[in-house]
Amino acid sequence: MIRTRILGTGQHLPEKILTNHDLEAIMDTSDEWIRQRTGIAQRHVAADTEGSSDLGVPAARRALEAAGVDAAEVDLIVCCTTTPDHIFPSTACLIQKGIGAKRAAAIDVNAACTGFIYGLSIADAMLKTGGYTTALVVGAEVLSKHLNWNRRDTAILFGDGAGAVVLRREEGARGVLSCFLGADGEFGDLLYMTAGGSKEHITEANVNSPSRDIVMNGRELFKKAVVLFGEAAQRALDAANAKVDDLDLFVPHQANTRIIYAATERVGIPEDKVFVNIDRVANTTAASIPIALDDAVNQGRLKEGSLVMLAAFGAGITWGASLVRW
Ligand code: ACO
Repeated sequence: MIRTRILGTGQHLPEKILTNHDLEAIMDTSDEWIRQRTGIAQRHVAADTEGSSDLGVPAARRALEAAGVDAAEVDLIVCCTTTPDHIFPSTACLIQKGIGAKRAAAIDVNAACTGFIYGLSIADAMLKTGGYTTALVVGAEVLSKHLNWNRRDTAILFGDGAGAVVLRREEGARGVLSCFLGADGEFGDLLYMTAGGSKEHITEANVNSPSRDIVMNGRELFKKAVVLFGEAAQRALDAANAKVDDLDLFVPHQANTRIIYAATERVGIPEDKVFVNIDRVANTTAASIPIALDDAVNQGRLKEGSLVMLAAFGAGITWGASLVRW
């Protein structure tokens, strides 16, 4: 059987850490409220001059090192980001240049918080059918630049960071067993940012207006996330003829511990099999799953043969899951 195996993982977080107590000093919030409602204790925040590619390049280098793969062997880079450095060129091209992967094709994927699952699924399909052998899937995000630090409803939730995996087309039982992707544009109004794209570009008139803000209907997103996380996980299990009891580890997108535990309870995954690192990094959007995977590897939670479920939910709305034999 031809499979796409994850050979190595890596991450890079910006140096600056903003704790909940730091936020107490700049907005009407409290460490207790943030911890109780979200599970977040701190987040990393990029420097003024740092873009997503500046985080993605070191994360990619670490994943290559862990995999024992040279950048020259990479023939595909998929960068999953909601916060590209520029409108163009793509952040994937900047990462290609940064790591010196001269032979690699490079594309960006935007599926918000589900970005990594979309990127993994695209890379998996291209490796299995498109003549590629070695891919890097990088989730890289600097959402802090788009946050309104006067809005406590959204500013507390997000963190900056990047995570990466190296994938290789191989014969064997290990690797990506299934992917499931979903989207429903009807619910795009649950989480969006209007200005800055082609429909409403930034002008003097709107530069400080609410259309520059992230707008979120937290309660509705919460309800949808709990259901769709579970649905995606079940679809990925079914596609691989696997059962929930077979899982060794569940690595969800880190949006909110209450969402994660409500969703895993619905599906029947015990808490000790759920990987959570949101306290340390907050919601890093498309970077959240590869950062969590790298943490899980470093903590010895993933061993050869482990069955791991990755699942995410995000703006769009989008959702998805992937089952991987480690
Ligand atoms: N600090 C203190 N109080 C706050 C804060 C804050 N940072 N933010 C809101 N509040 C207040 C509100 O004003 C409100 O006060 P009121 O009762 O006087 O009106 C009260 O807290 C409750 O607000 P809610 O929005 O109802 O709080 P809720 O329990 O729904 O928690 C939260 C909010 C954490 C955003 C939750 O809805 C959530 O996690 N939703 C999921 C959305 C999400 O995770 N988004 C991330 C991106 S999408 C993704 O990654 C899937």
